[in-house]
Amino acid sequence: MSDEPMNLTIDALMTERRTYPPSPTFAAQANAQPDSYTTDADTFWETEGRNRLSWFKPFDTLREWELPYAKWYLGGQLNACYNCVDRHVEAGLGDKVAYYWEGEPVDDRKTITYADLQHMVVKAANGFKSLGMTKDSHVGVYLGMVPEAVVTMLALARIGAAFTLVFGGFSAESLSGRLNDMQCQFLITQDGAWRRGKVIDLKGTADAAMADAPSVTACVVLKRGGNEVPMTDGRDHWWHDLVDPQSSDPASCPCEPMDSEDLLFLMYSSGTTGKPKGVMHTTAGYLAGTSTTHHYVFDIKPETVYWCAADIGWITGHSYIVFGPLVNATTSVMYEGTPDFPDKDRWWEIIERYKVTVLYTAPTAVRTHMKWGPEYAQKHDLSSLVLIGSVGEPINPEAWIWYRDHIGGGRTPVVDTWWQTETGMILITPLPGLSTLKPGSASRPFPGIEAAVLDENGHEVPPGTGAGYLVIKNPWPAMLRGLYHDDDRFKETYWSRFPGVYMAGDGARVDADGDFWLMGRIDDVMNVSGHRLSTIEIESALVDHPEVAEAAVTARNDAITGQAVVAYVTLKGGKDGSPEKAKELRDHVAKVIGAIAKPANIVFTPELPKTRSGKIMRRLLRDVAENRTLGDTTTLADPTVVSEIQARAQVEADKEG
Ligand code: PRX
Repeated sequence: MSDEPMNLTIDALMTERRTYPPSPTFAAQANAQPDSYTTDADTFWETEGRNRLSWFKPFDTLREWELPYAKWYLGGQLNACYNCVDRHVEAGLGDKVAYYWEGEPVDDRKTITYADLQHMVVKAANGFKSLGMTKDSHVGVYLGMVPEAVVTMLALARIGAAFTLVFGGFSAESLSGRLNDMQCQFLITQDGAWRRGKVIDLKGTADAAMADAPSVTACVVLKRGGNEVPMTDGRDHWWHDLVDPQSSDPASCPCEPMDSEDLLFLMYSSGTTGKPKGVMHTTAGYLAGTSTTHHYVFDIKPETVYWCAADIGWITGHSYIVFGPLVNATTSVMYEGTPDFPDKDRWWEIIERYKVTVLYTAPTAVRTHMKWGPEYAQKHDLSSLVLIGSVGEPINPEAWIWYRDHIGGGRTPVVDTWWQTETGMILITPLPGLSTLKPGSASRPFPGIEAAVLDENGHEVPPGTGAGYLVIKNPWPAMLRGLYHDDDRFKETYWSRFPGVYMAGDGARVDADGDFWLMGRIDDVMNVSGHRLSTIEIESALVDHPEVAEAAVTARNDAITGQAVVAYVTLKGGKDGSPEKAKELRDHVAKVIGAIAKPANIVFTPELPKTRSGKIMRRLLRDVAENRTLGDTTTLADPTVVSEIQARAQVEADKEG
């Protein structure tokens, strides 16, 4: 646990007292009705599980709960791909659009119906099988926002092979770490990915990763960027050579019956140590949890055109671009590139073109659009939008109100949804049509979820009084089933601080109305642009550089990215730093972890502030990063160290400013 005091800036937010009651017209047609909150949790999940999913063999037991291990829908057999694709085609929805896909290069578009998706998935699955892939295989996926990313996930689910999809911005080391941890035999990747008009070489990174991941014996490469890539004989196969000649007849590749609790995928996520955790998600509970929340939170109707603008490489993409929406036979938009290519109105142009009704994005994106100004949105007709959502970090009231006024036309509900890689599905959220919205509050636990805020001693903090640790008191279908090969860490991280409840790692408070206000992480995890980063992981990356003796990493608040990474670095041999050295270290972090982890600021210092027992006092470094009055320094071994660091940080700020 960190020595940081809880961030209480939320007090300031709570003085913002604007509330938005539901509109009667929205309420009348909403999927969520008052009885959604009153149905008891077991009946709710039993009904959703039976009605929302199709079973090869119905489940006989709703749940088993041997703390901290939950199992859901026991005895049942099903297939995720069948639930996402085949059954919709069988039900006559083959012509319904599954994805309007828009490439980053202008005018590069595809409309993919459910029937098209089925054909693409069957061909891919047949291609993968021809390489020897089976239900027991483990597969790494390193793809950008191409339709084949969805196709690959579904094809693997069809075969029953568990996968881990790694965000395209991660480095070779991060990728090989994941391939090794999961012992993947296969890797599916692409030559290059479009980003802001340029092609980023993914295959080169994949090659470097495979050089360190000997378990991978076959690699499938999709041609997308058109960049020149070396192909290793016997290992590498072009997607088009392998997949295109295959049969698209669903009967040629039946959906493998899977047990409810069979592993669907791992999603690696940063924690409080240097090594990312392999968060395990299994089949039935994950599908039930994501699709049920998707239905109620986004008020999905047959005619909805839904766009989750996240990247498929994060849990938001898995749950709310792929599995949740497809189970619900939703029409989605998927966009490959950045919001400012070729210009800053690309998103709004997409919304106008496809008449998007629901938009789901992150506060950092909202703040970026805010910075660019509302004129880009004003160039386009956004009147199709009926609901907008936010995820990934606390949304400040100013951004919330801007989002509703300028994107939601001052008319749509805004759903601020709180959840995590570990929770798999949204847990705290407004229900549109029911909840009175408060900018900055994620509202209440989803039906069937019991959340609370505990004080240091594990006592519940009464609503309207103070802040504390957010916990979830009962199991939910999409919850993580553990950390891959690391039971001790699973128990220690989530279940040891307060016996019997799940500790999320977030600070929160509940106001007098029972609404939750999330206050950010209370551990050594940062949230930069909605991406989770670990201070320790970045410290290890810095110390990995041959000239670095010691490093301490902390976060400061940032107007656009929420938080930004600040690194304090001591060089070996008492050497002084320089702007060139700072750049070199930033690039080194990008090489070890990925560009998303690059520190925004690097402060060189001859020493780090430590207690007499040698523990780095991050709390003080955070004070320095935030330019705040320093907290208690009496426990420091050498109190003069911080004033020296403060002076250096000021010089840095002056240089950069
Ligand atoms: O701190 C919370 C923040 O994001 C963390 C989870 O990060 P990750 O596993 O990467 O998943 C992000 C997408 C679900 C949480 O512990 N967080 C997420 N949503 C919100 C949030 N903080 C405040 N409000 C939210 N709506």
